[in-house]
Amino acid sequence: MLIVKALHISLVVAWFAGLFYLPRIFVNLAMVPDDSPAERERLLLMAGKLFKFMTPLGLLAVLLGLWLWLGFGFRGGWLHAKTALVALLLGYNWHCGRVLKSFQANRNTRSHVWFRIYNELPVLVLFTVVFLVVLKPF
Ligand code: HEM
Repeated sequence: MLIVKALHISLVVAWFAGLFYLPRIFVNLAMVPDDSPAERERLLLMAGKLFKFMTPLGLLAVLLGLWLWLGFGFRGGWLHAKTALVALLLGYNWHCGRVLKSFQANRNTRSHVWFRIYNELPVLVLFTVVFLVVLKPF
């Protein structure tokens, strides 16, 4: 069980590297002036590679979490609340893919300010999930 949990936490950390950095690239993409196609292409290349890297890591982190839950008999309200928040994170990861597509098609209409706020959501979820799983308050 400890090996599964160690892998779970490691993959969660790797996933969050992407969940934190990809929206930051969106902030920069939303600020690129129209006369800088080279900068835009460089940021799009980084964003595309990061999205392809983080998505399977997130799915593996969740699969290992489900293995911990269903394979080792964990139970409690904290786990249901945690899983609901993780579903939100998976939705966020999916939405990042849609945002990336809108930038690739040069159809983004959102401002860099919007993306700065958007960038904070994974931070809030991370703190809440970690407190839930460590303290198990209910
Ligand atoms: C559906 C997805 C997930 C499920 C079912 C799940 C389930 C679990 C379970 C059953 C444990 C063992 C708890 C214990 O040993 O006391 C665990 C540990 C942990 N999980 Fe998850 N997890 C999921 C996703 C995540 C995510 C996305 C994060 C981070 C935001 C996360 C962070 C942690 C941490 C930090 C631990 C170690 C807690 C400790 O050792 O006290 N998990 N998870």
